[in-house]
Amino acid sequence: MSIKELVEASGEELKFVRRSFEIIGDIAIVEIPEEVIHLKDKIISAILSKHKHIKTVLRKVGKVEGEFRVAKFEIIYGSETETIAREHGCRFLVDPTKVYYTSKLSGERERIARLVRDGERILVMFAGVGPYAIVIAKLSRPSEVLGIELNSKACEYFRKNIELNKVKNVKVLEGDVKDVVPKLEGEFDRIIMPAPQSAEKFVHLLPGKVKVGTWVHYYTFESENKEKKLPEKVKELFKEHGMEVELKNIRKCGSFAPYVNRYVLDLEVKN
Ligand SMILES: C[S@@+](CC[C@H](N)C(=O)[O-])C[C@H]1O[C@@H](n2cnc3c(N)ncnc32)[C@H](O)[C@@H]1O
Repeated sequence: MSIKELVEASGEELKFVRRSFEIIGDIAIVEIPEEVIHLKDKIISAILSKHKHIKTVLRKVGKVEGEFRVAKFEIIYGSETETIAREHGCRFLVDPTKVYYTSKLSGERERIARLVRDGERILVMFAGVGPYAIVIAKLSRPSEVLGIELNSKACEYFRKNIELNKVKNVKVLEGDVKDVVPKLEGEFDRIIMPAPQSAEKFVHLLPGKVKVGTWVHYYTFESENKEKKLPEKVKELFKEHGMEVELKNIRKCGSFAPYVNRYVLDLEVKN
């Protein structure tokens, strides 16, 4: 029985159980509110009966927070917190209790990778354990992909994942984007900004690293009722930093809180 079926077949109190949960490799991540914590074992059984490969169940007990964007978890089944997640023919060694990784953005990573033209030089800010950089290197033919990441544990996994996926033209740059980007030489054809919260604070790093025709994939959070004004707001922000950009596409790619979504804006630099 899945969590959804369990919830539907059970009484009132199970309405508190979140119906969706995330699977990363052989780890299941669930949200079980205090009100129904006594049903924990039933919930674990429901997950294990439906997903036989699961070895560990983590209960999310705190929000994704801090600079490293790692949530707090309690192990409620099993013990191993390191796993290998698979997406688009790539494998990612990851420990969700120590580094950020979500399978929910795998479709978005593939979308970006399919936009890449042969020979592009690409920069991924906030690279995590390397999913954007490595999926791009696997599915397309960039000349070079640089990934910047602050969390040293995530960098350790990123380096291992480069080996694991046998991609040759991906490089890990450990450090704060604010220190690393100004030291990079040359311009990029594509810059991906999956920022910890809003990429707003990092736009000033782009001048000198972009040229006419550079694509910037700008991720940000915005409330649903301000969605319509978001393209103008972001264009204005780029203008303040001397860049004219054309909006090629905007899409919702996840939610952050009730009525607050993650959006990605695909922008092309025009000057
Ligand atoms: C939302 S996660 C995205 C990770 C990765 N791109 C992915 O999709 O799995 C943001 C990442 O940015 C890193 N980070 C936060 N602030 C940073 C900074 N100033 N410079 C570099 N990396 C940073 C965090 O450690 C985290 O791994």
